Amino acid sequence: MNLFIYESNEQLNAAAANLMAAELQRNPKAVLGLATGSTPIGMYEKLVEMHRAGLVSFREATTYNLDEYVGLPRDHEESYYTFMNRHLFRHVDLPEGSTHLPLGNAENPADECLRYDASIEQANGIDLQILGIGHNGHVGFNEPGDELHSGTHIVQLAEETRKANARFFASLDEVPSEAITVGMGVILKARTILLLARGADKAEILKRALRGPITTQVPASLLQLHPNLIVMADSEAGRLLQA
Ligand code: F6R
Repeated sequence: MNLFIYESNEQLNAAAANLMAAELQRNPKAVLGLATGSTPIGMYEKLVEMHRAGLVSFREATTYNLDEYVGLPRDHEESYYTFMNRHLFRHVDLPEGSTHLPLGNAENPADECLRYDASIEQANGIDLQILGIGHNGHVGFNEPGDELHSGTHIVQLAEETRKANARFFASLDEVPSEAITVGMGVILKARTILLLARGADKAEILKRALRGPITTQVPASLLQLHPNLIVMADSEAGRLLQA
């Protein structure tokens, strides 16, 4: 594991964006695994800036997002599809057909999960997977429990996750109770994983994920098994990892 701890958010955003830009320079056809949530927003802003300055192009890239809420139409204000358009897709040169998210309101969600996995396989897997981490150690929406799934699946969102995400909705009742998420197998097959964490509220779980036992009760702890894991944290989230 390569761990980097940054003094400022600005430095963290720049480092994460530079890593993705370097991947695209090395391999313009890179398949990128993308995350939503607050954590990667600064990285996306930086990438948009770099794109406008002619420093990075997504023209030949393909993207797969980790997850989507079940039941929200794509054009819902809080769908992850809308999130990605708002923060990245519409500001860069990614062709529309090259961006992928699970279809949250698919008629047959089980088929949608199979279709999503097949599509990732067909693209020859993910080169660089961006991840945030939930307060309970989830990655994607792989929630803690006795079992984890390998492939894309429907998941019941933990109450803690719904509460954490209620800040984006008018009320807790409006937060969907299910999501489609890629499974741990899909994530661990990515050739490189970049885990991002910021804020004091992530310090405890980041330490458990990276230094604690590998357990399904902390899904992010499985990342310890990955041969090419890069972790970028701000000084608050990385506070308990500094030796
Ligand atoms: C988002 C995702 C989630 C978030 C996690 C952290 O696509 O899969 O695992 O990365 O919930 O969210 P933030 O960044 O809002 O703290």
